[in-house]
Amino acid sequence: MSDVLLEVNDLHVSFFLTEGIVRAVSGVSFQIERGKTLGIVGESGCGKSVTARAILNMVRPPGRIVSGEINYYGQSDTPIDLAKLDPHGAEIRRIRWGEISMIFQEPMTSLSPVHTIGNQMIEAIRLHMDMSKQDAAAHAVGLLARVGLAQPERLLTRYRHELSGGMRQRVMIAMALSCNPKLLIADEPTTAVDVTTQAQILNLMRDLQQEFGMAIIFITHALGVIAEVADHVVVMYLGEEAEVADVDTIYYKAAHPYTQALLRSIPRHDIKLDRLETIEGNVPDPMNMPDGCKFHPRCRHYDPGKCANPALLQIGEQHWSRCARAHEINPQLSRTEQPS
Ligand SMILES: Nc1ncnc2c1ncn2[C@@H]1O[C@H](COP(=O)(O)OP(=O)(O)OP(=O)(O)O)[C@@H](O)[C@H]1O
Ligand SMILES: [Mg+2]
Repeated sequence: MSDVLLEVNDLHVSFFLTEGIVRAVSGVSFQIERGKTLGIVGESGCGKSVTARAILNMVRPPGRIVSGEINYYGQSDTPIDLAKLDPHGAEIRRIRWGEISMIFQEPMTSLSPVHTIGNQMIEAIRLHMDMSKQDAAAHAVGLLARVGLAQPERLLTRYRHELSGGMRQRVMIAMALSCNPKLLIADEPTTAVDVTTQAQILNLMRDLQQEFGMAIIFITHALGVIAEVADHVVVMYLGEEAEVADVDTIYYKAAHPYTQALLRSIPRHDIKLDRLETIEGNVPDPMNMPDGCKFHPRCRHYDPGKCANPALLQIGEQHWSRCARAHEINPQLSRTEQPS
């Protein structure tokens, strides 16, 4: 079987509003290997959550997948294109939760306020696994204990408003793992919790990945978190990949000014800075995207003579940058990595 579990090819997702079209994702491609972690990182509004929802074919009107492929190699070398499935059909419903599960960005809205944690977990488990109510309850208790929640039996009888933010996040992880997924999409799983809990949840996800062997797409706006969890990274800016590479290359050979700016805005033990930088300017209005390179209004390296073409360039064996000046801005890139 191929190492690749999921392959996104030239994905376009837009929202058709009365005021105009928001091109939330415009031509993103990446792939994820079985058992590995792909980090998707970028500022608010760059299209991370929309990409995640598209993978599960869960983009709701007025949004829709306009074009592109989402090839899922679940059981065999012949992929299923998730983008082409009926969003309400039996096949995608089997794959959602059963094979690809998601921890949503808003744990409050994804847990029901009117059902107990137990009811929700048991129902989700029984929808995809052939289990009696009793076995499903025992499975749920095991998972809640596994994600570090105390008194899991009691927890089954509780409602979401009775739980702290960290507890809710752990319940979401337990639910997402309940059907033993091949791919877990975690959309900002640690934003709603404090730093200590964040570290615990990251450790937990790493342990669970080793135990269950699943692949993870880890979405965050914080490049610092990506370093701890990801094998490969997609840096997104305004619905496109700015840079794609393995995690070490992103950290030590970043070749897009946006990635470099994100790196300067996180604390690093290997570089001493008097103060952290913020990225100049704001993310532009999605209905009025800049022409040419979308990052140019905020870019300190912008040169109108050189930056007209914003194509994604391959600059290394597994390294791509959407910057025409990649080699100028990163002299570390070796000669062998020059585009041919
Ligand atoms: N339901 C919607 N209707 C209209 N536009 C939307 C809708 N959902 C998302 N968008 C737009 O799509 C773009 C990408 O949004 P998305 O939620 O994917 O960003 P994100 O990278 O996840 O940001 P954050 O870090 O804040 O979660 C944004 O411009 C957003 O305004
Ligand atoms: Mg989001």
